[in-house]
Amino acid sequence: MQGAVLECVNCGARFEGPKERYACDACGDGLRLALDLEGLSYDSLAARWRARPLGVWRYRELIPINGGGEVSLQEGGTPLLGVGDPGGNGVTIHVKNEGQNPTGSFKDRGMTVGVTRARALGRGRVMCASTGNTAASLAAYSARARMECVVLVPAGGVALGKLAQAFFAGARVVTLRGSFDDAMRLVVEAAERLDAYVLNSINPYRIEGQKTAAFEVFDQLGGRAPDWLVCPVGNGGNLAAYWKGFQELQALGALDALPRLVGVQAEGAAPIARAFSEGRKDIVPVPKPETLASAIRIGNPANWRKTLRALKESDGRTVTVPDAAIAEAQARLAREEGIFVEPASAASLAGAERLSREGVFEEGETVVCVCTGHGLKDPDAALRARAEPPMVEATVDAIVAAVKGGRR
Ligand code: F0G
Repeated sequence: MQGAVLECVNCGARFEGPKERYACDACGDGLRLALDLEGLSYDSLAARWRARPLGVWRYRELIPINGGGEVSLQEGGTPLLGVGDPGGNGVTIHVKNEGQNPTGSFKDRGMTVGVTRARALGRGRVMCASTGNTAASLAAYSARARMECVVLVPAGGVALGKLAQAFFAGARVVTLRGSFDDAMRLVVEAAERLDAYVLNSINPYRIEGQKTAAFEVFDQLGGRAPDWLVCPVGNGGNLAAYWKGFQELQALGALDALPRLVGVQAEGAAPIARAFSEGRKDIVPVPKPETLASAIRIGNPANWRKTLRALKESDGRTVTVPDAAIAEAQARLAREEGIFVEPASAASLAGAERLSREGVFEEGETVVCVCTGHGLKDPDAALRARAEPPMVEATVDAIVAAVKGGRR
Protein backbone atom coordinates (compact mmCIF):
# COMPACT_ATOMS: atom_id res chain seq x y z
CA MET A 1 0.00 0.00 0.00
CA GLN A 2 0.90 3.65 -0.43
CA GLY A 3 1.79 6.15 2.22
CA ALA A 4 -0.98 8.30 3.62
CA VAL A 5 -1.33 11.27 5.90
CA LEU A 6 -4.27 12.47 7.97
CA GLU A 7 -5.62 15.68 6.55
CA CYS A 8 -8.48 17.99 7.43
CA VAL A 9 -11.08 17.99 4.66
CA ASN A 10 -11.74 21.69 5.25
CA CYS A 11 -8.56 23.60 6.13
CA GLY A 12 -6.03 21.05 4.86
CA ALA A 13 -4.15 20.88 8.20
CA ARG A 14 -2.06 17.72 8.33
CA PHE A 15 -1.50 15.55 11.37
CA GLU A 16 1.25 13.07 12.03
CA GLY A 17 2.17 10.97 15.00
CA PRO A 18 0.43 8.19 16.87
CA LYS A 19 -2.40 10.21 18.47
CA GLU A 20 -5.85 9.11 17.33
CA ARG A 21 -7.97 11.89 15.96
CA TYR A 22 -11.48 12.05 14.62
CA ALA A 23 -11.65 15.80 14.00
CA CYS A 24 -9.30 18.63 13.04
CA ASP A 25 -7.62 20.37 15.98
CA ALA A 26 -7.51 23.59 14.02
CA CYS A 27 -11.05 23.96 12.65
CA GLY A 28 -13.05 21.02 13.99
CA ASP A 29 -13.92 19.59 10.58
CA GLY A 30 -13.60 15.93 9.57
CA LEU A 31 -10.37 14.15 8.69
CA ARG A 32 -9.45 11.95 5.75
CA LEU A 33 -6.46 9.93 4.76
CA ALA A 34 -4.74 11.64 1.84
CA LEU A 35 -2.99 8.93 -0.15
CA ASP A 36 0.27 9.48 -1.90
CA LEU A 37 -0.56 8.21 -5.40
CA GLU A 38 2.82 9.26 -6.82
CA GLY A 39 4.38 6.48 -8.82
CA LEU A 40 1.17 4.45 -9.12
CA SER A 41 -0.35 3.93 -12.52
CA TYR A 42 -3.81 2.59 -13.12
CA ASP A 43 -2.55 0.17 -15.78
CA SER A 44 -0.14 -1.61 -13.48
CA LEU A 45 -2.69 -1.66 -10.64
CA ALA A 46 -5.46 -2.99 -12.88
CA ALA A 47 -3.33 -5.98 -13.90
CA ARG A 48 -2.84 -6.88 -10.23
CA TRP A 49 -6.46 -6.24 -9.31
CA ARG A 50 -7.78 -8.48 -12.06
CA ALA A 51 -5.75 -11.37 -10.65
CA ARG A 52 -7.62 -11.13 -7.31
CA PRO A 53 -11.29 -11.82 -6.52
CA LEU A 54 -13.70 -8.89 -6.39
CA GLY A 55 -13.79 -7.60 -2.81
CA VAL A 56 -12.35 -5.00 -0.45
CA TRP A 57 -8.78 -6.34 -0.39
CA ARG A 58 -8.55 -6.63 -4.19
CA TYR A 59 -7.65 -2.93 -3.95
CA ARG A 60 -5.07 -3.30 -1.18
CA GLU A 61 -2.61 -0.91 -2.85
CA LEU A 62 -5.06 1.91 -2.13
CA ILE A 63 -5.81 0.92 1.47
CA PRO A 64 -3.36 2.57 3.88
CA ILE A 65 -2.69 -0.38 6.17
CA ASN A 66 0.83 -1.69 6.58
CA GLY A 67 1.75 -5.33 6.15
CA GLY A 68 -1.00 -8.10 5.91
CA GLY A 69 -2.82 -9.60 8.85
CA GLU A 70 -6.22 -8.40 7.76
CA VAL A 71 -9.19 -9.13 9.97
CA SER A 72 -11.49 -10.35 7.22
CA LEU A 73 -14.74 -12.22 6.71
CA GLN A 74 -14.47 -11.88 2.90
CA GLU A 75 -16.31 -8.61 2.58
CA GLY A 76 -17.23 -6.81 -0.62
CA GLY A 77 -17.60 -8.48 -3.99
CA THR A 78 -21.33 -7.73 -3.89
CA PRO A 79 -23.47 -8.02 -7.02
CA LEU A 80 -24.43 -5.13 -9.29
CA LEU A 81 -27.83 -6.05 -10.65
CA GLY A 82 -29.90 -4.38 -13.37
CA VAL A 83 -33.42 -3.60 -12.15
CA GLY A 84 -34.98 -1.97 -15.21
CA ASP A 85 -36.15 1.47 -16.11
CA PRO A 86 -38.89 2.63 -13.75
CA GLY A 87 -39.41 6.03 -15.37
CA GLY A 88 -39.60 4.40 -18.84
CA ASN A 89 -37.13 6.93 -20.25
CA GLY A 90 -34.24 4.78 -21.43
CA VAL A 91 -32.27 4.90 -18.16
CA THR A 92 -30.62 1.77 -16.83
CA ILE A 93 -30.90 1.44 -13.07
CA HIS A 94 -28.56 -0.95 -11.25
CA VAL A 95 -28.63 -1.97 -7.62
CA LYS A 96 -25.34 -2.46 -5.78
CA ASN A 97 -26.57 -5.04 -3.30
CA GLU A 98 -24.49 -4.41 -0.21
CA GLY A 99 -26.80 -6.58 1.87
CA GLN A 100 -24.74 -9.51 0.60
CA ASN A 101 -21.79 -8.59 2.78
CA PRO A 102 -20.86 -10.98 5.65
CA THR A 103 -23.02 -9.31 8.30
CA GLY A 104 -25.57 -8.07 5.80
CA SER A 105 -24.55 -4.45 5.31
CA PHE A 106 -21.96 -2.18 3.70
CA LYS A 107 -20.45 -1.52 7.13
CA ASP A 108 -18.30 -4.64 6.74
CA ARG A 109 -16.15 -2.87 4.16
CA GLY A 110 -15.20 -0.25 6.71
CA MET A 111 -14.86 -2.66 9.61
CA THR A 112 -12.41 -5.02 7.94
CA VAL A 113 -10.08 -2.05 7.53
CA GLY A 114 -10.96 -0.33 10.81
CA VAL A 115 -10.52 -3.41 12.98
CA THR A 116 -7.32 -4.33 11.15
CA ARG A 117 -6.09 -0.85 12.02
CA ALA A 118 -7.15 -1.29 15.67
CA ARG A 119 -5.18 -4.52 15.81
CA ALA A 120 -2.12 -2.89 14.21
CA LEU A 121 -2.29 -0.23 16.95
CA GLY A 122 -2.40 -2.98 19.57
CA ARG A 123 -5.85 -2.02 20.79
CA GLY A 124 -7.89 -4.54 22.73
CA ARG A 125 -11.25 -2.76 22.86
CA VAL A 126 -13.35 -1.10 20.18
CA MET A 127 -16.51 0.96 20.44
CA CYS A 128 -19.21 2.61 18.37
CA ALA A 129 -22.55 4.38 18.52
CA SER A 130 -25.05 2.80 16.19
CA THR A 131 -28.53 2.56 14.74
CA GLY A 132 -27.75 -1.17 14.43
CA ASN A 133 -25.68 -2.13 11.41
CA THR A 134 -22.44 -0.57 12.59
CA ALA A 135 -22.89 -2.43 15.88
CA ALA A 136 -23.57 -5.76 14.16
CA SER A 137 -20.56 -5.38 11.93
CA LEU A 138 -18.13 -4.14 14.57
CA ALA A 139 -19.24 -6.94 16.89
CA ALA A 140 -18.46 -9.56 14.26
CA TYR A 141 -15.08 -8.19 13.19
CA SER A 142 -13.91 -7.58 16.75
CA ALA A 143 -14.95 -11.12 17.67
CA ARG A 144 -12.79 -12.42 14.84
CA ALA A 145 -9.91 -10.27 16.11
CA ARG A 146 -10.54 -11.43 19.73
CA MET A 147 -11.18 -7.88 20.90
CA GLU A 148 -13.73 -6.54 23.31
CA CYS A 149 -16.56 -4.59 21.75
CA VAL A 150 -18.85 -1.96 23.25
CA VAL A 151 -21.83 -0.63 21.29
CA LEU A 152 -24.09 2.28 22.21
CA VAL A 153 -27.58 2.07 20.77
CA PRO A 154 -30.69 4.22 21.21
CA ALA A 155 -33.53 2.71 23.23
CA GLY A 156 -36.27 1.31 21.05
CA GLY A 157 -34.71 2.42 17.81
CA VAL A 158 -32.82 -0.62 16.62
CA ALA A 159 -34.09 -3.44 14.39
CA LEU A 160 -34.14 -6.78 16.19
CA GLY A 161 -31.95 -8.65 13.71
CA LYS A 162 -29.13 -6.17 14.18
CA LEU A 163 -29.30 -6.35 17.96
CA ALA A 164 -29.26 -10.15 17.80
CA GLN A 165 -26.13 -10.03 15.66
CA ALA A 166 -24.34 -7.77 18.13
CA PHE A 167 -25.37 -9.89 21.15
CA PHE A 168 -24.39 -13.16 19.54
CA ALA A 169 -20.97 -11.86 18.59
CA GLY A 170 -20.42 -11.06 22.26
CA ALA A 171 -20.58 -7.28 22.17
CA ARG A 172 -21.42 -5.40 25.33
CA VAL A 173 -24.60 -3.62 24.24
CA VAL A 174 -25.38 -0.43 26.14
CA THR A 175 -28.85 0.96 25.49
CA LEU A 176 -29.18 4.71 25.99
CA ARG A 177 -32.22 6.55 27.18
CA GLY A 178 -31.79 8.81 24.23
CA SER A 179 -31.43 8.97 20.46
CA PHE A 180 -28.69 7.85 18.10
CA ASP A 181 -27.57 11.48 17.99
CA ASP A 182 -27.08 11.39 21.77
CA ALA A 183 -25.02 8.20 21.42
CA MET A 184 -22.88 9.76 18.71
CA ARG A 185 -22.33 12.91 20.80
CA LEU A 186 -21.05 10.83 23.72
CA VAL A 187 -19.09 8.05 22.05
CA VAL A 188 -15.67 9.70 21.66
CA GLU A 189 -15.46 10.87 25.26
CA ALA A 190 -16.83 7.60 26.63
CA ALA A 191 -14.30 5.69 24.53
CA GLU A 192 -11.46 7.80 25.88
CA ARG A 193 -12.50 6.93 29.42
CA LEU A 194 -12.85 3.24 28.51
CA ASP A 195 -9.61 3.10 26.54
CA ALA A 196 -11.53 2.00 23.45
CA TYR A 197 -10.86 2.66 19.77
CA VAL A 198 -13.79 4.42 18.08
CA LEU A 199 -15.05 2.84 14.87
CA ASN A 200 -17.81 5.14 13.75
CA SER A 201 -17.47 6.66 10.30
CA ILE A 202 -15.68 9.69 11.78
CA ASN A 203 -12.74 7.27 11.86
CA PRO A 204 -11.04 7.80 8.48
CA TYR A 205 -9.97 4.14 8.22
CA ARG A 206 -13.62 3.15 7.95
CA ILE A 207 -13.93 5.33 4.86
CA GLU A 208 -10.85 3.70 3.32
CA GLY A 209 -12.68 0.38 3.37
CA GLN A 210 -15.99 1.77 2.22
CA LYS A 211 -14.51 3.57 -0.78
CA THR A 212 -13.75 0.16 -2.33
CA ALA A 213 -17.43 -0.08 -3.25
CA ALA A 214 -16.74 2.68 -5.80
CA PHE A 215 -13.83 0.65 -7.19
CA GLU A 216 -16.10 -2.39 -7.50
CA VAL A 217 -18.82 -0.43 -9.31
CA PHE A 218 -16.16 0.88 -11.70
CA ASP A 219 -14.93 -2.67 -12.37
CA GLN A 220 -18.43 -4.12 -12.66
CA LEU A 221 -19.42 -1.49 -15.23
CA GLY A 222 -16.44 -2.52 -17.32
CA GLY A 223 -14.06 0.26 -16.31
CA ARG A 224 -16.23 3.35 -16.02
CA ALA A 225 -18.23 5.27 -13.47
CA PRO A 226 -22.02 5.47 -13.62
CA ASP A 227 -23.55 8.80 -14.59
CA TRP A 228 -25.35 8.93 -11.23
CA LEU A 229 -24.60 7.26 -7.92
CA VAL A 230 -27.60 7.25 -5.58
CA CYS A 231 -27.03 6.53 -1.91
CA PRO A 232 -29.10 6.72 1.27
CA VAL A 233 -27.66 9.23 3.72
CA GLY A 234 -27.61 9.00 7.50
CA ASN A 235 -24.36 10.34 8.94
CA GLY A 236 -23.13 10.78 5.38
CA GLY A 237 -19.96 8.71 5.63
CA ASN A 238 -20.87 6.33 2.86
CA LEU A 239 -21.64 8.95 0.23
CA ALA A 240 -18.34 10.66 1.06
CA ALA A 241 -16.57 7.29 0.79
CA TYR A 242 -17.90 6.68 -2.73
CA TRP A 243 -16.77 10.15 -3.71
CA LYS A 244 -13.26 9.54 -2.38
CA GLY A 245 -13.08 6.25 -4.29
CA PHE A 246 -14.11 7.77 -7.59
CA GLN A 247 -11.80 10.74 -7.08
CA GLU A 248 -8.85 8.41 -6.50
CA LEU A 249 -9.66 6.51 -9.68
CA GLN A 250 -9.67 9.80 -11.52
CA ALA A 251 -6.34 10.84 -9.98
CA LEU A 252 -4.88 7.53 -11.20
CA GLY A 253 -6.03 8.28 -14.73
CA ALA A 254 -8.65 5.51 -14.77
CA LEU A 255 -11.64 7.80 -15.15
CA ASP A 256 -12.47 10.78 -17.34
CA ALA A 257 -15.85 11.61 -15.92
CA LEU A 258 -16.85 11.43 -12.29
CA PRO A 259 -20.40 10.44 -11.40
CA ARG A 260 -22.93 12.89 -10.04
CA LEU A 261 -23.93 11.97 -6.51
CA VAL A 262 -27.49 11.81 -5.23
CA GLY A 263 -28.02 11.77 -1.47
CA VAL A 264 -31.39 10.40 -0.39
CA GLN A 265 -32.88 11.04 3.03
CA ALA A 266 -36.20 10.11 4.60
CA GLU A 267 -38.54 13.08 4.78
CA GLY A 268 -38.60 13.04 8.59
CA ALA A 269 -34.81 12.89 8.96
CA ALA A 270 -33.39 15.08 6.22
CA PRO A 271 -31.05 17.77 7.58
CA ILE A 272 -28.46 17.27 4.83
CA ALA A 273 -30.98 17.14 1.98
CA ARG A 274 -32.68 20.29 3.27
CA ALA A 275 -29.43 22.24 3.63
CA PHE A 276 -28.22 21.19 0.19
CA SER A 277 -31.41 21.88 -1.69
CA GLU A 278 -31.79 25.25 0.02
CA GLY A 279 -28.17 26.14 -0.76
CA ARG A 280 -27.28 26.62 2.91
CA LYS A 281 -23.73 26.15 4.18
CA ASP A 282 -24.77 24.62 7.50
CA ILE A 283 -27.33 22.05 8.46
CA VAL A 284 -30.15 22.64 10.90
CA PRO A 285 -30.27 19.51 13.07
CA VAL A 286 -33.62 17.74 13.35
CA PRO A 287 -34.29 17.34 17.08
CA LYS A 288 -36.70 14.36 16.75
CA PRO A 289 -35.99 12.52 13.52
CA GLU A 290 -38.78 10.18 12.43
CA THR A 291 -38.77 7.48 9.76
CA LEU A 292 -39.51 3.79 9.49
CA ALA A 293 -36.00 3.45 8.06
CA SER A 294 -34.42 3.23 11.52
CA ALA A 295 -30.88 2.89 10.10
CA ILE A 296 -31.01 6.48 8.88
CA ARG A 297 -33.08 7.98 11.69
CA ILE A 298 -30.42 10.60 12.31
CA GLY A 299 -31.05 14.28 13.03
CA ASN A 300 -27.52 15.58 13.54
CA PRO A 301 -25.25 13.74 11.10
CA ALA A 302 -21.60 13.49 12.09
CA ASN A 303 -20.19 13.80 8.57
CA TRP A 304 -22.47 16.50 7.25
CA ARG A 305 -19.67 18.81 6.10
CA LYS A 306 -17.90 16.09 4.13
CA THR A 307 -21.19 15.06 2.59
CA LEU A 308 -22.28 18.53 1.56
CA ARG A 309 -18.85 19.05 0.04
CA ALA A 310 -19.01 15.81 -1.96
CA LEU A 311 -22.49 16.66 -3.21
CA LYS A 312 -21.36 20.10 -4.31
CA GLU A 313 -18.13 18.94 -5.93
CA SER A 314 -19.97 16.29 -7.93
CA ASP A 315 -22.67 18.72 -9.10
CA GLY A 316 -25.01 16.36 -7.30
CA ARG A 317 -28.53 16.45 -5.95
CA THR A 318 -30.42 15.53 -2.86
CA VAL A 319 -33.90 14.14 -2.62
CA THR A 320 -36.24 13.34 0.27
CA VAL A 321 -38.69 10.45 0.25
CA PRO A 322 -41.69 9.78 2.47
CA ASP A 323 -41.94 6.52 4.39
CA ALA A 324 -44.75 5.30 2.12
CA ALA A 325 -42.45 5.56 -0.92
CA ILE A 326 -39.68 3.73 0.96
CA ALA A 327 -42.03 0.86 1.89
CA GLU A 328 -43.34 0.69 -1.65
CA ALA A 329 -39.86 0.57 -3.19
CA GLN A 330 -38.83 -2.12 -0.68
CA ALA A 331 -41.85 -4.28 -1.55
CA ARG A 332 -41.47 -3.80 -5.30
CA LEU A 333 -37.77 -4.66 -5.30
CA ALA A 334 -38.52 -7.93 -3.50
CA ARG A 335 -41.60 -8.78 -5.58
CA GLU A 336 -40.28 -7.87 -9.01
CA GLU A 337 -36.58 -8.59 -8.70
CA GLY A 338 -36.21 -10.96 -5.75
CA ILE A 339 -33.96 -8.53 -3.88
CA PHE A 340 -34.92 -8.10 -0.21
CA VAL A 341 -33.37 -4.98 1.29
CA GLU A 342 -33.96 -3.06 4.49
CA PRO A 343 -35.98 0.19 4.42
CA ALA A 344 -32.96 2.54 4.48
CA SER A 345 -31.66 0.78 1.38
CA ALA A 346 -34.98 1.04 -0.39
CA ALA A 347 -34.81 4.80 0.19
CA SER A 348 -32.14 5.07 -2.49
CA LEU A 349 -34.33 3.28 -5.01
CA ALA A 350 -37.35 5.37 -4.06
CA GLY A 351 -35.21 8.48 -4.56
CA ALA A 352 -33.92 7.29 -7.93
CA GLU A 353 -37.43 6.47 -9.07
CA ARG A 354 -38.60 9.91 -8.12
CA LEU A 355 -35.78 11.61 -10.03
CA SER A 356 -36.40 9.31 -12.97
CA ARG A 357 -40.08 10.26 -13.11
CA GLU A 358 -39.13 13.94 -12.81
CA GLY A 359 -36.93 13.52 -15.89
CA VAL A 360 -33.67 14.35 -14.11
CA PHE A 361 -31.88 11.37 -15.65
CA GLU A 362 -31.33 11.47 -19.39
CA GLU A 363 -31.83 8.74 -21.95
CA GLY A 364 -28.91 6.31 -22.06
CA GLU A 365 -27.61 7.24 -18.61
CA THR A 366 -26.51 4.65 -16.09
CA VAL A 367 -27.72 5.00 -12.53
CA VAL A 368 -26.36 2.95 -9.63
CA CYS A 369 -28.48 2.76 -6.48
CA VAL A 370 -26.66 1.63 -3.39
CA CYS A 371 -28.78 -0.79 -1.36
CA THR A 372 -26.93 -0.75 1.90
CA GLY A 373 -28.43 -3.51 4.05
CA HIS A 374 -30.31 -6.82 3.95
CA GLY A 375 -34.08 -7.06 4.43
CA LEU A 376 -33.69 -9.82 7.03
CA LYS A 377 -32.18 -7.29 9.41
CA ASP A 378 -35.58 -5.76 10.01
CA PRO A 379 -38.33 -8.24 9.12
CA ASP A 380 -40.80 -6.47 11.43
CA ALA A 381 -40.76 -3.38 9.24
CA ALA A 382 -41.41 -5.54 6.18
CA LEU A 383 -44.16 -7.62 7.76
CA ARG A 384 -46.05 -4.75 9.30
CA ALA A 385 -47.25 -3.79 5.86
CA ARG A 386 -48.40 -7.33 4.91
CA ALA A 387 -51.53 -9.31 5.64
CA GLU A 388 -51.12 -12.58 7.60
CA PRO A 389 -50.76 -15.56 5.26
CA PRO A 390 -53.67 -18.02 5.43
CA MET A 391 -53.42 -21.06 7.69
CA VAL A 392 -55.10 -24.20 6.35
CA GLU A 393 -55.64 -27.84 7.30
CA ALA A 394 -52.73 -30.16 6.47
CA THR A 395 -54.32 -31.62 3.33
CA VAL A 396 -53.56 -31.27 -0.36
CA ASP A 397 -57.13 -30.09 -1.04
CA ALA A 398 -56.82 -27.27 1.47
CA ILE A 399 -53.47 -26.18 0.05
CA VAL A 400 -54.78 -26.13 -3.52
CA ALA A 401 -57.92 -24.26 -2.46
CA ALA A 402 -55.87 -21.68 -0.57
CA VAL A 403 -53.55 -21.05 -3.51
CA LYS A 404 -56.30 -20.93 -6.13
CA GLY A 405 -58.76 -18.90 -4.17
CA GLY A 406 -56.62 -16.97 -1.78
CA ARG A 407 -54.89 -13.64 -1.72
CA ARG A 408 -51.18 -13.32 -1.48
N1 F0G B 1 -28.11 2.39 5.13
C1 F0G B 1 -28.00 1.57 6.19
C2 F0G B 1 -28.61 0.21 6.09
C3 F0G B 1 -27.32 2.01 7.35
O1 F0G B 1 -27.21 1.19 8.39
C4 F0G B 1 -26.79 3.31 7.39
C5 F0G B 1 -26.11 3.81 8.58
C6 F0G B 1 -26.93 4.11 6.25
C7 F0G B 1 -27.59 3.62 5.15
C8 F0G B 1 -26.37 5.49 6.19
O2 F0G B 1 -24.99 5.50 6.04
O3 F0G B 1 -24.39 6.98 7.93
O4 F0G B 1 -22.76 6.46 6.11
O5 F0G B 1 -24.73 7.93 5.69
N2 F0G B 1 -26.11 3.24 9.69
C9 F0G B 1 -25.33 3.64 10.85
C10 F0G B 1 -25.31 2.54 11.90
C11 F0G B 1 -25.67 4.98 11.36
O6 F0G B 1 -25.10 2.84 13.09
O7 F0G B 1 -25.48 1.39 11.55
P1 F0G B 1 -24.16 6.80 6.47
